Amino acid sequence: MTNTVRTQVGIIGAGPAGLMLSHLLHRAGIDSIVIENRSREQVEQTIRAGILENGTVDLLAETGASDRVLTDGHRHDGIEFRFGGEGHRIDFADLVGRAVWLYPQHEVLKDLIATRLRDGGDIRFGVTASAVADADTDAPRIIGTDADGAPFEIVADFVIGADGSRSVAREAVTGSSTGGYFREYPFAWFGILCEAPPSAPELIYSASEHGFALISQRSETVQRMYLQCDPELDPTSMSDAEIWDSLQQRVGGGLIEGPIFQRDVLRFRSFVAHQLRHGRVFLVGDAAHTVPPTGAKGLNLAVADVRLLNGAIQEFYRTGSTTQLDEFPERASKRIWRAQHFSWWMTSMLHAAPGATEFDERRRRGELESVVSSRAGRQYLAEAYTGWPFVGGDSAL
Ligand code: PHB
Repeated sequence: MTNTVRTQVGIIGAGPAGLMLSHLLHRAGIDSIVIENRSREQVEQTIRAGILENGTVDLLAETGASDRVLTDGHRHDGIEFRFGGEGHRIDFADLVGRAVWLYPQHEVLKDLIATRLRDGGDIRFGVTASAVADADTDAPRIIGTDADGAPFEIVADFVIGADGSRSVAREAVTGSSTGGYFREYPFAWFGILCEAPPSAPELIYSASEHGFALISQRSETVQRMYLQCDPELDPTSMSDAEIWDSLQQRVGGGLIEGPIFQRDVLRFRSFVAHQLRHGRVFLVGDAAHTVPPTGAKGLNLAVADVRLLNGAIQEFYRTGSTTQLDEFPERASKRIWRAQHFSWWMTSMLHAAPGATEFDERRRRGELESVVSSRAGRQYLAEAYTGWPFVGGDSAL
């Protein structure tokens, strides 16, 4: 016997996209159920990116999703680009009057889960979706198994695939589990977490002749750093001393070292699903798109998707109109492709590809010089990095 539950919006995935959508819908009196195949502990402990755009922070704070982002998060008014032995600050505050916040993704998830549970939200951990059916009808279904392995089904007015890069919902929307525009890069990042105080007040993106490194942070006592590496690198193959030597060499020294307690290799991919909607099923977040981590856009793009979709679903329940739902794929795609371009551009500008020629490398250096040496270049970068505004201004989306 299948346990069938009914709701207005069935959401697969308790990541930033799924939880934020559930939260925004709740504020408009719209019910949802979020299912997630991992446990709450796993969701809250998975280390991901750490940078929130200005608009993401505003949405979290203004809708009561996170009180902590403004108190525990750190506002960064700029970043440093380092190359050719010199540092160049990109001053966001001066260039665009905006900022980013360093606030790790798992902290955002903790806040969203706590907020949903406080508000009586229905999040079911350990529940696995296997397929989405009846997308063309007005009662699409999520089919899966509950935490005990028993058959489980959600029948809803809308189904949202917020289920990450290995999305189950993607097949119902695009016709295949992989259907999308895709690109892979010939390098990856070797990421570490270490116990040490911050080495710098802001993030350092360093493009050195020895390869790229990013110095990021997590807290007063924990730092996050990345080294460009081969995608096949075994994260256990380097000793702590080798990692520190490599990082120091790539940023020109000055890093405060400490014990390394986590290592991972992040592969670089760009992906956009061929379709974002089929009937009453929608894709958001990583299910809809993946970006390489260089521009820190992943979480922010997921939140931007659901900001838009929330408005469209609300309009439907308020007026019966499907206009905004119909417009969702095209409107969301504008931001998605701008973020794709920015992430690809930052990635290709900051990394030497294996086999790059002397011409390629000199051209790349010319590009870095162009960006940092003119206000227009720095402003372009600052505008994209802090996130294009949603309303008002030339570049609003
Ligand atoms: C991070 O802190 O994990 C981080 C920051 C900036 C990036 C990517 C990752 O561009």
